Amino acid sequence: MLNKIKRWKNRSHSSDLQEKILEIKQQPLPSHIAIIMDGNGRWAKKRALPRIAGHHEGMKVVRKVTKLASNLNIKTLTLYAFSTENWKRPKMEVDYLLKLPEEFLGTFLPELVEENVQVKMIGYKENLPKHTLSAVEKAINDTKNNTGLILNFALNYGSRAEILEAIKHVLNDYKSGIMNETEISEEMFSKYLMTAGLTDPDLLIRTSGEIRLSNFMLWQLAYTEFWFTDVLWPDFSETHFLEAIAAFQNRQRRFGGV
Ligand code: IPE
Ligand code: IPE
Ligand code: MG
Repeated sequence: MLNKIKRWKNRSHSSDLQEKILEIKQQPLPSHIAIIMDGNGRWAKKRALPRIAGHHEGMKVVRKVTKLASNLNIKTLTLYAFSTENWKRPKMEVDYLLKLPEEFLGTFLPELVEENVQVKMIGYKENLPKHTLSAVEKAINDTKNNTGLILNFALNYGSRAEILEAIKHVLNDYKSGIMNETEISEEMFSKYLMTAGLTDPDLLIRTSGEIRLSNFMLWQLAYTEFWFTDVLWPDFSETHFLEAIAAFQNRQRRFGGV
């Protein structure tokens, strides 16, 4: 199995890229990388294509970035795929976006299984179409015993709603006597969020030139390093990914200290 994975990794990157990878591996890597994959619509518009063509192209980048993250032994990769605000888009686009997980997993799930990737999801399952949810749940189930990269999809995810829901759960547990006031801490509160069990992101990447969070992981990003690029998501390459990690490695994280 291990040999199989090694072969797969080696043939998947050019020697130039391999060299950059080796260089990056010399220094500590971010353990959790989160990405706001933005700019698909503009990428398509630039080519006079429908917006969904950009989403389709973006899916290929998800595959490339996942492979590389896995190769780098990154522990967690969280990808913002659909926000609770994205329902505001035209129905046709929403339908397409919610078909992508199926399309992606339908094609690449065997690869993810072979690559020892564990699929996870954060976000509201309730109002997702059945076909979207069952594709994601199948992937989660098929990869649950894997021990490699955690590929965490933020799907129908919104951070403010997540925080409010956590507060309601805390209140309930308080009222029913499961916990008392003194037990309410940052560490405990984190366990009530959808990201329970995951570490906070060390590095946040957002593509397409937008410099905002768009309701993404507001609690979890408190001490994350941010890296923004004008590159549109469908144009985002392995080299850009390595560039972001190299930038992270040059940051001095102080967490409020000196
Ligand atoms: C990111 O690309 C994909 C999602 C938000 C689902 P966009 O669709 O937001 O592309 P732009 O920002 O309009 O270019
Ligand atoms: C953020 O991108 C959501 C995802 C990438 C899934 P948007 O394109 O929806 O964000 P805004 O509307 O520009 O803030
Ligand atoms: Mg956008």
